[in-house]
Amino acid sequence: VKAGIINVTGYGGAELARILSRHPELDVVSVTGRSSAGKRLAEVFPHLSGTDMPITEELEGETDIVFSALPHAASAERLMPLIEAGTKVVDFSADFRLKDAAVYSEWYKVDHPSPTTLQSAAYGLPELNRDEIRTSNLVANPGCYPTASILALAPAVAAGLITEDVIIDAKSGVSGAGRALSLNTHFSEVDENVKAYSVGGHRHMPEVTQELGRINPGPELRLTFLTHLIPMVRGILVTGYAPLNTGVTGTGETAAARVREAYEEYYRDEPFVTVTDEPPATKQTLGANNCLIYPTIDPRTYRLIVIACIDNLVKGAAGEAVQNANIMLGLPETAGLQQLALYP
Ligand SMILES: NC(=O)c1ccc[n+]([C@@H]2O[C@H](COP(=O)([O-])OP(=O)(O)OC[C@H]3O[C@@H](n4cnc5c(N)ncnc54)[C@H](OP(=O)(O)O)[C@@H]3O)[C@@H](O)[C@H]2O)c1
Repeated sequence: VKAGIINVTGYGGAELARILSRHPELDVVSVTGRSSAGKRLAEVFPHLSGTDMPITEELEGETDIVFSALPHAASAERLMPLIEAGTKVVDFSADFRLKDAAVYSEWYKVDHPSPTTLQSAAYGLPELNRDEIRTSNLVANPGCYPTASILALAPAVAAGLITEDVIIDAKSGVSGAGRALSLNTHFSEVDENVKAYSVGGHRHMPEVTQELGRINPGPELRLTFLTHLIPMVRGILVTGYAPLNTGVTGTGETAAARVREAYEEYYRDEPFVTVTDEPPATKQTLGANNCLIYPTIDPRTYRLIVIACIDNLVKGAAGEAVQNANIMLGLPETAGLQQLALYP
């Protein structure tokens, strides 16, 4: 299967090229970049020397599937002709994630170039939307925070274990902000420092409420979603808190067991989600397409506490994109994705 990568020179695109270099069925035949067009991939990223090829301004030759790792707005603009031509597309950006064009404009401050296309895009979280992904030519790869947050809360929402009053406290490594230079991600600003950001509302929040709302269309979630920048390169850790519904009773231990059972049942057949016995650490997911989830309760307040972590560039971006492509192409879902996490 011939694959093209638009914008290979960001962190998401480069990570995709690395993962696809070991994929048994997908061959990357063309990669694009803007400022690096005319150079070779190995010149820009020496770690990709085993998969060297020219970086061009536009995709060249025929491709069966195209991945776009462009920023939002630029991605939709570049992809619309391919989408209209029926090419299979996986988009890393936020451009096709939200179903409502007005919500997209509100959070991303641009008008959507094709609001009607939003309805035909599948939200690319395989654990929730596998059937839709299988039959769609356009898959919107989720954001990194939403991947961890939705997977953390989906079983509790689906089983009606929690009220709509949810808090997600999220922490991300600096690669989540991409490769472009900025003062906020400068070494001396980030190292030995932790900071909350987007306190007034993070752009990833509407994706989380949209997808959790689709699981259980009861009362709308009242979500407080707070993000922090952590001095590490990769990794996202989210902690979700929500009051347990009055139906979840018994001693703390019984309630905790009921919650855990719901999570184990929900993810029983999932190759990339593991319900853990201990709170997981981001490093257990480093370089791997895994989401680790630890659900428990606070027996003093009868609140759900659920902790989830992923590698933002793998299960939160490039790995998830490959998982989606595998599903769209009818390949084994785990193809090219079975690497273990790096340690230490
Ligand atoms: N980083 C993550 O953890 C993560 C996770 C999930 C999803 N995503 C999404 O994936 C996409 C890529 O993110 P990233 O983190 O890989 O970004 P990145 O490392 O910052 O790459 C962005 C690069 O794209 C190029 N670019 C910017 N505007 C462009 C345009 N209009 N046309 C062509 N090239 C342009 C620029 O490179 P040049 O100026 O050198 O050409 C820029 O440095 C984004 O939509 C992001 O939201 C990222």
